[in-house]
Amino acid sequence: MIKFLMKTFSNTPSEHNFENWEVFNHNIYLKSNEEKKKEIRKATCLARYDIEKDKNFSWMENYFLSKLSREELKDKVLLDLGSFTGGRLIAWAENYNLKKSYGIDINPIFKVASEEFAREKNINADFSTGIGEKLPYDDNFFDFIVSTDTFEHVQSLEKSMAECYRVLKPGGKLLAVFPQFLQPFESHLNFVTNFPCLHWFFSPKKISEKYFEILKERGPTAEWYSGNKNNLENWEKLPTLNGTSIRDYEKILKRNNWSNTQWIKRPILTDGRRSKKLIFKLLSFLFYPLIHIKYLDELFMGRICVICKK
Ligand SMILES: C[S@@+](CC[C@H](N)C(=O)[O-])C[C@H]1O[C@@H](n2cnc3c(N)ncnc32)[C@H](O)[C@@H]1O
Repeated sequence: MIKFLMKTFSNTPSEHNFENWEVFNHNIYLKSNEEKKKEIRKATCLARYDIEKDKNFSWMENYFLSKLSREELKDKVLLDLGSFTGGRLIAWAENYNLKKSYGIDINPIFKVASEEFAREKNINADFSTGIGEKLPYDDNFFDFIVSTDTFEHVQSLEKSMAECYRVLKPGGKLLAVFPQFLQPFESHLNFVTNFPCLHWFFSPKKISEKYFEILKERGPTAEWYSGNKNNLENWEKLPTLNGTSIRDYEKILKRNNWSNTQWIKRPILTDGRRSKKLIFKLLSFLFYPLIHIKYLDELFMGRICVICKK
């Protein structure tokens, strides 16, 4: 049944979608000359930079600046945790006149792309290769940490949150936004299927089994995005996801000593390009009351979005 649904609503990623880091594993990148490779690296930067430059879609404008003033960001030292190829961070540096920008992500190729883009845009930025669970910065170093769509992927959110707390200055703020596990549309199965809500009805273990089976059936053409992976890691609930629900995150927040935490609650269908369509606007309007009801919030809230003050 699961496989039938996945195959009926089948999906495959495009190697021309530069929002996907997996493009660096595709022959379109690997077999290119250095000039073409540089072009592709820049396309991945622009994929995020252009979103952040557009006020209608910017994560900073739409989520955090509803609770924060632009002035607060001016001349500040800011870390983007999970910075990918730096597109969003460079846009923030330009938009809010940051004093210095730092970015960290796990893949060395992201650092190369980020540094090229920062040079081109003449931005004072420092990029590292590393993980959120072990940040290579001194205690009390940053005024702000921003993390967008990354906390659902870290192996240990508990450790990453503790590290954020450590490297923030007293009074510094963590701005975090990421999809919560139980919402219908963000189960990250979209390299294989578009069918929503599978994890409401089937166990993550069974879904993953079928997901990997389909990838295997697709053969060598899928290797660039499957990475030949056919099992979940110990920490994964679904492929690449740690499975953090709203209730899990509330517990993690309580275990750190944040002096203040503010939630920004929005229902599903209120971000991204589809949110501008009338039908989705109407539906999301209906969901607003539901996200304030405990347990229903797990089904209808799109992203966990918090501002945590040290
Ligand atoms: C969906 S992308 C989001 C990228 C970017 N923040 C954005 O919003 O466009 C998730 C990013 O998290 C990074 N990531 C995954 N695990 C990580 C970890 N443990 N520490 C730091 N970054 C991690 C991935 O490499 C990837 O670039």
